[in-house]
Amino acid sequence: KASPRVRQVTTSLIQHLHDFARENEITVDEWMAGLELLNEAGRMSDDKRNEGQLLCDIFGFESLVDEITYKLAADAADEPTATAILGPFWRHDAPQKKMGDTIVSGIESKDRTYMHGIVTDFKTGKPVEGAVLDVWHTAPNGLYEQQDPNQPEMNLRGRFTTGKDGKYDFYCLKPVPYPIPYDGPAGKILQAMDRHPYRPAHIHFILTAPGYKPIVTQIFDRNSKYIEDDSVFAVKDSLIVDFKPYQGDPNADFELPYDFKLATY
Ligand code: DHB
Ligand code: FE
Repeated sequence: KASPRVRQVTTSLIQHLHDFARENEITVDEWMAGLELLNEAGRMSDDKRNEGQLLCDIFGFESLVDEITYKLAADAADEPTATAILGPFWRHDAPQKKMGDTIVSGIESKDRTYMHGIVTDFKTGKPVEGAVLDVWHTAPNGLYEQQDPNQPEMNLRGRFTTGKDGKYDFYCLKPVPYPIPYDGPAGKILQAMDRHPYRPAHIHFILTAPGYKPIVTQIFDRNSKYIEDDSVFAVKDSLIVDFKPYQGDPNADFELPYDFKLATY
């Protein structure tokens, strides 16, 4: 059955594709090369390698639709925590953990981090109970667990649920900058454009809570290389954080206090 929205965006897409071809005098050979790249991305895409998403991301497309989606929803002066792109490496069903647990397994590091804070309602400032914080980041070798046969299943991932006080805390690592996978179509395009594949050090989050709008976001280490030159354009000022050297905890080298603010529907 006809959908007005699908019809509108498809018509517009066709118009823009035609304009694009005319404007650049795209030849049959060039179109074929582009098509082959898309097909290759399709063939490569599985649950370990979202090459299609990677392609969108190096074009800044996921970042743009993120901005469009949540700008439409933003209302007042004091704002909820900003969103950022999901990226290709989130996994369903990360292990459920207890507050104070670690998501790190089998890794020696001098960047052990104690992250903690509170999830609040951005309008009332009240703690949010039952908020689920889904977190994931890479190992020091720059690889997510599903990209790396040497890491245990679901390493560096976890889901934490807040109690009445809205507080959360867990142990992770101070993340590192690393390249997005560049041995496929996205890498070819980066190379053709003379662009690097690196992302600044970041930690990913999805926050959900009953009665609140979910947010997908990332936080970024202020001191990380590429903080001003993210290959997938995800950095926002309000998401830049400071890892503080931490004394007095035998399990942590850094402390990262960070609060999340959610909006109701
Ligand atoms: C992309 C995002 C990530 O967070 C990441 O770790 C790798 C790639 C991306 O947007 O393509
Ligand atoms: Fe990432």
